[in-house]
Amino acid sequence: MPDEMQQVPIRYEYDIVTARQKVREIAIQIGFTGSDLTLIATAISEIARNIIVYASHGEITFNIIENRGSKGIVIVASDQGPGIKNIDQALSDGFSTGKSLGLGLPGAKRLMDEFEIDSSVGVGTTITMKKWLS
Ligand SMILES: Nc1ncnc2c1ncn2[C@@H]1O[C@H](COP(=O)(O)OP(=O)(O)O)[C@@H](O)[C@H]1O
Ligand SMILES: [Mg+2]
Repeated sequence: MPDEMQQVPIRYEYDIVTARQKVREIAIQIGFTGSDLTLIATAISEIARNIIVYASHGEITFNIIENRGSKGIVIVASDQGPGIKNIDQALSDGFSTGKSLGLGLPGAKRLMDEFEIDSSVGVGTTITMKKWLS
């Protein structure tokens, strides 16, 4: 695994802070600044919180990516929780099976450049998101 690849277990509230900090360090290394750092951290927070609330625990890994000279960051959040029954529904503003706002997934999708959910009921959920340096 490449040097830059890092993994943060997500189980407790404090792990969200750790994930935000570690991703921020890599993002700065890649060249992200200002509001990009904030929006990447916001997306991480939402996805990490979902792991804690809906799946109880999981992990977030992240790494530097390059494509035709462009640099970016890839963040993968995975858990072996209950999975998401209807992904389109989960991605719509205001949908929540919890008692929250239902803006986490659609918000994170809007903030990042690429966003993919792979989920199976009873198996778990993997969310892959990328942000490219502009
Ligand atoms: N890791 C996950 N495992 C299982 N279900 C999830 C996961 N993340 C999100 N969900 C489902 O998607 C819904 C929408 O998530 P989100 O947009 O973050 O809104 P909220 O967390 O406020 O409910 C959640 O209510 C939940 O049903
Ligand atoms: Mg949420």
